[in-house]
Amino acid sequence: MTLHPDSTSSLVSSSILHHTLRADNPLKLGIMASGNGSNFEAIAQAIKDGQLAAQIQVLIYNNPEAYAAVRAERWGIPSVLLNHREYKSREGFEEQIVKTLQQYDVELVIMAGWMRLVTPVLLDAFPHKIINIHPSLLPSFKGVRAIEQALAAGVKITGCTVHLLCLEMDSGPILVQAAVPVLPDDTPETLHARIQVQEHRILPIAIALAAQ
Ligand code: GRF
Repeated sequence: MTLHPDSTSSLVSSSILHHTLRADNPLKLGIMASGNGSNFEAIAQAIKDGQLAAQIQVLIYNNPEAYAAVRAERWGIPSVLLNHREYKSREGFEEQIVKTLQQYDVELVIMAGWMRLVTPVLLDAFPHKIINIHPSLLPSFKGVRAIEQALAAGVKITGCTVHLLCLEMDSGPILVQAAVPVLPDDTPETLHARIQVQEHRILPIAIALAAQ
């Protein structure tokens, strides 16, 4: 069987979006990002398009250069820079994150390209209410450079995963996955671009699922 480059499969139908969230009671989201922020924007777009009954209360970013902050400004969404380099401990940093999320009345936290490991300070403040997106079919290729790892392993199918966060990196219960074929001449960039198309599709679905 040959897979078309654009073909994909995921385990949950997007109709779930319409079943789990109610427009008259939008879920209050807090997004955490360190970089580009395309997933942040995909969530904003899904909300705008009426696919997801939610509201982004705040973007927290830890890298002053993060393009996600530019996107937030464009969307008129409040953003808060919390630079981990300005804190003595991981715990102190996360206490500030928790305080900010609580100030903005956040119900569900989405790590969309957040490049820091977490401690119980954050996890215990939002039990079962933090989700993460990772660019591989977990449990394969955890950690950094997941796409390079997949190319080096020679797999023919990879993808992306949205899962509940737990202390162990890239290991919590899986909410949604999408498969993406690896093409013979793929580079990390071309493969990542195709994976991101699927990330943007499954993240709103996972948010609706996590809200249940
Ligand atoms: C995504 O590929 C995500 O899976 C990984 O970091 C990347 C973030 O992309 N955790 P973006 O900043 O949302 O564009």
